[in-house]
Formats: sequence, C-alpha cells, structure tokens
Amino acid sequence: MTANTCTTGNDTCTAEYVFDSPSHAGRAQLGHLQTLLDPVTTGFLADVGVWPGMRCLDLGSGNGSIAGWLSDRVGPAGEVIAVDLETDQLDVPPQVEVHRHDIRDGLPVAGGFDLIHARLVLMHLSEREQVLAELIDALAPGGWLVLGETPTPPQEALAAPSADDAALADRVIAAGTRAVQAAGVSPSWAYEVEHHFAGAGLTGIRGSVHAPMITGGDAGALLMSTYVAQVTPLLLAEGLSEDEIARYHALMQDPRFRAWPFLQLVTTAGRKPLEEGQR
Ligand SMILES: C[S@@+](CC[C@H](N)C(=O)[O-])C[C@H]1O[C@@H](n2cnc3c(N)ncnc32)[C@H](O)[C@@H]1O
Repeated sequence: MTANTCTTGNDTCTAEYVFDSPSHAGRAQLGHLQTLLDPVTTGFLADVGVWPGMRCLDLGSGNGSIAGWLSDRVGPAGEVIAVDLETDQLDVPPQVEVHRHDIRDGLPVAGGFDLIHARLVLMHLSEREQVLAELIDALAPGGWLVLGETPTPPQEALAAPSADDAALADRVIAAGTRAVQAAGVSPSWAYEVEHHFAGAGLTGIRGSVHAPMITGGDAGALLMSTYVAQVTPLLLAEGLSEDEIARYHALMQDPRFRAWPFLQLVTTAGRKPLEEGQR
C-alpha cells in the first residue's frame, strides 16, 4: 500500500471531472490510454531526458503507469510524486509518493521539480491557465514541463457494417463531444499550450502529435466505448436512445468499423530557464 493523503480542503476530494476513474469503465479507460499512449509519452520523456536522482511530479496520474516508469528511471536517489483526485485505481511502486488531491487547490507539496508531467489533465480543468502558472512556478531552474493533451477534431466513420451504423457512430461522438465540452473540456487547449509556454518564458519548446486510426476491437475503439459508458446519462440527455448506445458499443467491437483519427495526443515540452552559472 502506498501513502494516500487527501488534502483538498474537504474530505471527499470531489470535483466535476467528467469521468469516474475508479469505476469499471474508468479503470478500463486508463488501461487503454496506457496501451495506446505510454509508448509515445515515454519516448517523448526519454528524449527530454529523465535521469537518476531527478525529482518528478506526475499530475493526474490515472493508473500510475507513467509515475511508475518515471520512478524506474530516477531510481532510489530520485523522487516521484503522483497526484490525482482519485487514487483507488493507482498502482505504483511503493517509492512513489501518492497524494489524493485536487490540483485546483494548489500543489500538495513544495516545488523545485526537475520534471513535471501531466497527460490529459489540464484540458479538463476550466482553471487550466492558473494551474499551468502554478506548475511553471513549481519547476526548478532548468526543469521541464511536459503536457500531453488532446484536441477534439470532428470524427467521421470511415467504414462500418452499414451507412446507418456510420451515421450513428458520428452522432454519438458529436453528442459526446458537446457533453464533455459543456462539462469544461477544452477542444482547443492542446494546440494552445505552446503559446502559453512561450509567453511564460519557457525555453527549448518542442512537441509532437500522435493520431492513430481506430478499428473496432482495438484499444482505440475500446477506449471510445469506455468514454461513452462513463457519459451515458449525458448522451441520453442529448437525445440518444439506450438502443443506439448499445449499438455503438457493439460497433466498437466490430472489426468492420474504422474511424480516423479520433484520439490525437499533442505533447508539448518547455524548460524553465537556467539560473546564471547553472548548466
Ligand atoms: C483522462 S485521465 C488521464 C490519466 C493519465 N494521466 C493518463 O494519461 O493515462 C485524467 C486524470 O486526471 C485526474 N484529474 C482530473 N481532475 C483533476 C484535478 N482537479 N486534480 C487532480 N487530478 C485530476 C483524473 O482523476 C484522472 O486520473
């Protein structure tokens, strides 16, 4: 068991985050994100440079896969802190320090980080600019901030068992997109991060975009099902029926379904300037 500190100011750590990470669908979502995105994120982080002894923060850790990877890299001389609203689904090595905490209440630990990483977190927060400023403040001189975010491109089914199925898939995604945006998810933040990094004086800014096609039955399609399962009440309120939602889940298992691209991971990194005399 890892230490689990709730420091949100009320003892339930609740917030309006649109998904439910400890639920069955929420855990499955985090597993599919790990499968789809960890190779991209760890490759990017390795390029930025993660070394033994570094002090790292992983914000909105989900199931903790990236916190665990960082912990392997920084070794016993380093430190990894994982922060999330919910921590029941977090599975990290014991040396990772876990904080159950709402980042909108500020950081639960002192700053001075060599690396701060957050994937698919700030895009969910209406206070994202304030949180970004706090994360930059919490960097040590020379420390890197790495944010992975997804924009919301329109999705059109490329192939489906029938034209009605393709139209249904497009309707579900359009309704889901409206619903999560109403809940505060930004459709454009992913591509705005670079501008904010530059404005804050971060240096060495770099980035990448990863956009896999989804095919029924693969991790991308199953991920879509987990999203829909978690926002079903919102989709019903948008006018979709239970039968249509059930058909959507079946389509996401059907290898005749393809769509291109839904999940784009836009990763941006920037470095806090070094202090004079530092290398
Ligand atoms: C879409 S998941 C991404 C999880 C993980 N970073 C990944 O990419 O696999 C977003 C995560 O951010 C956490 N989160 C959302 N709002 C938060 C907040 N205000 N403070 C801390 N964590 C938050 C959620 O609980 C969830 O684990």
